[in-house]
Amino acid sequence: MDPVKVGLLGLGTVGGGTATILKRNATEIARRAGRGIEVDFIATLEPERAAELGVADIRLTQDAYEVVNDPAIDIVVELIGGYSPAKELVMTALENGKHVVTANKALIAMHGDEIFAKAQEKGLVVAFEPAVAGGIPIIKALREGLAANQVEWLAGIINGTGNFILTEMRDKGRDFDDVLAEAQALGYAEADPTFDVEGIDAAHKLSILSSIAFGIPLQFDKTYTEGISKITQEDVAYAEELGYRIKHLGVARRTESGIEQRVHPTLIPESRLIANVNGVMNAVLVQGDAVGATLYYGAGAGDEATGSAVIADIVDITRALTSDPQNRVPHLAFQPSELQNTPVLEMDQVQTAFYVRLAVKHQAGVLAEVTSILGAKNISIEAFLQKVINEGSDEADIILLTNVVNEGDMNDALAQIEALDVINGNATRIRVEALS
Ligand code: HSE
Repeated sequence: MDPVKVGLLGLGTVGGGTATILKRNATEIARRAGRGIEVDFIATLEPERAAELGVADIRLTQDAYEVVNDPAIDIVVELIGGYSPAKELVMTALENGKHVVTANKALIAMHGDEIFAKAQEKGLVVAFEPAVAGGIPIIKALREGLAANQVEWLAGIINGTGNFILTEMRDKGRDFDDVLAEAQALGYAEADPTFDVEGIDAAHKLSILSSIAFGIPLQFDKTYTEGISKITQEDVAYAEELGYRIKHLGVARRTESGIEQRVHPTLIPESRLIANVNGVMNAVLVQGDAVGATLYYGAGAGDEATGSAVIADIVDITRALTSDPQNRVPHLAFQPSELQNTPVLEMDQVQTAFYVRLAVKHQAGVLAEVTSILGAKNISIEAFLQKVINEGSDEADIILLTNVVNEGDMNDALAQIEALDVINGNATRIRVEALS
């Protein structure tokens, strides 16, 4: 049987990893897919990359539309990133009857519903395993391996760059900007690294996971998103003293009133496995009603790690094309007609515990003022630390861990606390998840 012909859009970090693995492991991959897989056409603005990667013998163009319009191509692999022209290219590929693999989480999170509808209409597959958590097969696990379960919640470290930064800050006391520059040089960071640092990349990925876990349409715009740029060395050290690690977590949880969908720095008990996921590694913890907790761990970014997920999708499509054309898994795990309107909750309806750090005047009565405001909102203190900034100074840090409370109540209480004369500046507030 003739090999399946792949057109690659983009030969950057992930495109390079994909081309390299397909070449190196061609025989093994063909044995798995039941047919050869051949990269037949590559669109890249850097043709010299093809020579660097040893694939200069493959047809090259600088115009991606030549690839998506080429009748010889069976599967288009979109590795350009961003919303446009990626969306137009993917829609054209589908219009032309080509299956699509994409690593583009922004595209799927923002336009997935429209793209899947077009794929459905045309009887085609849009596969996006590499879009979430790099090389970890988390989409397959949720869509297929956990199909028996009602997913209760999932929580993930799903941005490698952010986790790399937090790890280096904690372990080596390195400067934020310095670590970010290294992540960019290693090809982990997004073209706009604020997407990593401010949680937008993680929110793209979380909205995809949430839809697949709960059978709801993609709703990136309803994902609460908070970055890591305000986390200080002091917060990292205080959290350690209290027995916690700070991680940038994406959390999706089913509650009676709706779905919590949120990305923010989070204190996690240091004994949890996920609290010990370091560097560029990602991990997703999924709680299913039947299976209990399962944890998926691996490289969340990088050329061959993400290329591994790209090729897994190409192999799935090749198998469907070759031997089992009707055996298609729905794009969002649930049949399109069965998606539900369960609301994604506003953030002030969400319930978590909190770490709160207050810079206070070191004088009598401060704690009483703070605790009476918290008490009036029924917010209870589970642990407490006080640190005098310098011996003899009139400034101190107060660090509190609270019980699980309504975000809205905590916002009200902190607004009142920040208005007190004895409080300097704004409170630092980090959510705490026990993940038990
Ligand atoms: N910028 C992303 C990250 C790349 O650091 O996780 C992988 O999606």
